[in-house]
Amino acid sequence: MSEPVLEARDLLKDYVTRDAKLQRRTARAVDGVSFQIGEQETFGVVGESGCGKSTIGRVLLKLYEATGGEILLFGENVAPLSERRFRGHRRKLQMVFQDPQAAFDPMSSIRSSLREYAELRGLRRRAEQDALIERTVEEVGLPPELIDRKPSEVSGGQLQRLNVARCLLVEPKVLFLDEPTASLDVSIRGQIVNLLLDRQESDHLSYLLVSHDLRVVYAMAHRVAVMYLGQFVEVGTRDQVYERARHPYTRGLLDAADLDEPRRDSSSVRLAGEISDEVMALPGCRLMPRCPFAEESCESPQELLQVEEGHLVRCWKAVEQPGDMGLPVTLTKKGEAREEAGKMIVE
Ligand SMILES: Nc1ncnc2c1ncn2[C@@H]1O[C@H](COP(=O)(O)OP(=O)(O)OP(=O)(O)O)[C@@H](O)[C@H]1O
Ligand code: SF4
Ligand SMILES: [Mg+2]
Repeated sequence: MSEPVLEARDLLKDYVTRDAKLQRRTARAVDGVSFQIGEQETFGVVGESGCGKSTIGRVLLKLYEATGGEILLFGENVAPLSERRFRGHRRKLQMVFQDPQAAFDPMSSIRSSLREYAELRGLRRRAEQDALIERTVEEVGLPPELIDRKPSEVSGGQLQRLNVARCLLVEPKVLFLDEPTASLDVSIRGQIVNLLLDRQESDHLSYLLVSHDLRVVYAMAHRVAVMYLGQFVEVGTRDQVYERARHPYTRGLLDAADLDEPRRDSSSVRLAGEISDEVMALPGCRLMPRCPFAEESCESPQELLQVEEGHLVRCWKAVEQPGDMGLPVTLTKKGEAREEAGKMIVE
């Protein structure tokens, strides 16, 4: 990978809240997360609700202050910068919300919401702003007349296209895509995915993509991280994670998603029970109460370990005793014989 456009190093984010008795409570939503995103690369983050996916993006965009760690934008650590000093960088990072309604003022025309972004681009004259807005709206596949409507007067799919246009107006380098298709009908999700893929290529954009939808992540991401209770538990290329998943949590997620494509190697894992953040106070593996392979050694702290180039797993057992978990004992290239769950398979 060329020099990373955006990098997170050991990112931490604590939320301080008050419980019913007004006692202060600190909850760690992001716990030591590190990754890099290269130019024109999509880094996907998947995981169940509440695991901390959106918090990562919000901290990277400095919508929330990081509790610890570094955020490098083109090599410069922007985490400690004040709001004023960060302003010069803000244009480079934009966010596509899950709910496109949230990006527009419901009382104003779409044109007037978009003007603010044309202004951020440095255009002062209205005629110049309008010309840029109309051109950008056409580029995302919409007739420019739409912009004189209010957000409630266009469809959800059109509004999400306008939301993408809104970001493009400021010529960003990185887009944080937080569930970009979740609020849309299944029939138009593919159109938004294709629009984002096209714009990535034409504008050399880098994407941080967060989604519950494993299909959307498969369609868009080059590399993928699987997140559980604030930590990455598996990181790899898209194919390493989808086709050679090693962590029981990843395998459980893929099974629950019931993807018929792509074909996966790992045998079925069912996760029992609910997510409980009580395990965060313990030093060992956070999946223990739900993992069918849990044993005493899992009570020790689990580091992300490399199982093949670029493929990291936070589970000692997946590395040391993969056969006991129904995994291939050795990773193989196509055409070689391998042992899987006790039987020899020749591809
Ligand atoms: N502003 C906030 N104040 C306090 N706690 C918060 C805040 N935002 C999020 N949290 C908590 O932090 C944890 C992570 O939340 P986050 O929204 O990042 O998860 P997520 O993975 O994006 O979930 P979802 O898939 O539902 O969008 C959750 O336990 C959530 O309740
Ligand atoms: S470390 Fe143990 S509990 Fe955690 S995922 Fe691996 S086998 Fe399961
Ligand atoms: Mg979220």
